[in-house]
Amino acid sequence: MTTNVARAIAHSNIALIKYWGKSNSTLNLPAVPSLSLTLDGLTSTTSVQFDATLDSDQVQLDGKLTLGREQARVVAMLDRVRALAQIDTRARVSSHNDFPTAAGLASSASGFAALALASSSAAGLELGLEALSALARQSSASAARSLFGGFVNLLADAESAQQVAPSEHWDLRLLVAVTEEGRKPVGSTEAMEITKRESPYYAAWLAHAPNLYREAEQAIQHRQFDTLGASMEQSTLMMHASMWATRPAILFLTDATLSVMHRVRTLRGQGLPCYFTIDAGPHVKVLAQAEHAEEVERELAVLDQVLRVIPCAPGPGARLTTDEGPLC
Ligand code: DP6
Repeated sequence: MTTNVARAIAHSNIALIKYWGKSNSTLNLPAVPSLSLTLDGLTSTTSVQFDATLDSDQVQLDGKLTLGREQARVVAMLDRVRALAQIDTRARVSSHNDFPTAAGLASSASGFAALALASSSAAGLELGLEALSALARQSSASAARSLFGGFVNLLADAESAQQVAPSEHWDLRLLVAVTEEGRKPVGSTEAMEITKRESPYYAAWLAHAPNLYREAEQAIQHRQFDTLGASMEQSTLMMHASMWATRPAILFLTDATLSVMHRVRTLRGQGLPCYFTIDAGPHVKVLAQAEHAEEVERELAVLDQVLRVIPCAPGPGARLTTDEGPLC
């Protein structure tokens, strides 16, 4: 090993066209193509140090030691990195998110992207972006997209994500309207497996998702905002509809979520172009063009259901940092 410590930064990404469901759960391959925007806000910073004096991996998230499933997912990635680097040294991992963890704000995407880069570098590996993306995907498919900046796809059955257009391609904003603090009751991995197993609408989701992907990709290439917004809202609602059809239903949308969705539609009706998307959590992310973003942000911020708005612009991919300050 040439070095045993590294720190990486990765940004969260929000899917404009959703990944929901796996074609292979063991390999964690997506069943549908997805298309995301990497954001400049919502950052995970992760440091990894392989240390021969440790007899087990130690994983801290936002200053707290993690145990159980969360820790196991990190250890599984470290095991893959150790196998590639042919080492068996345990590691100390410390990760910090500058936004609420596991609340539908894609903390696993930025977290595992940063971990893939930091852990492979700390182990002395020099993996290219494609290999890093594949490594991240095995832990969380949405994380594969956060290795890249700007507009990024992860196609059905693909091992790695790819950039569709750089962040400078289109000056869009995603305004993240946070509707509650705290963790979501069920994680996306489990929720999408239940949907696949139980929802009579899952087959319809699989059949229609590729059309939405194609429409959105074209809309991005030609910067057609209303087409992108319409395909994004439909992808969101088709994904949630597939979950609503399980028994018991998986409901991530709260009263606050629905109020914000209605408000977005009203604003649009009044001539302010904006569209919503919602992931596996209660928050609403609102897409706007840069010239309308401040007005949309003001309209969201005054709503009783909205605790705060985090404005995000298209952001860069994951990168190593030499900053050695404390993580939290
Ligand atoms: C709703 O990537 O968290 O955010 O691969 O099981 O870790 P796993 O799932 P995950 O699912 C993300 C689902 C989503 C949509 C998306 O980001 O495309």
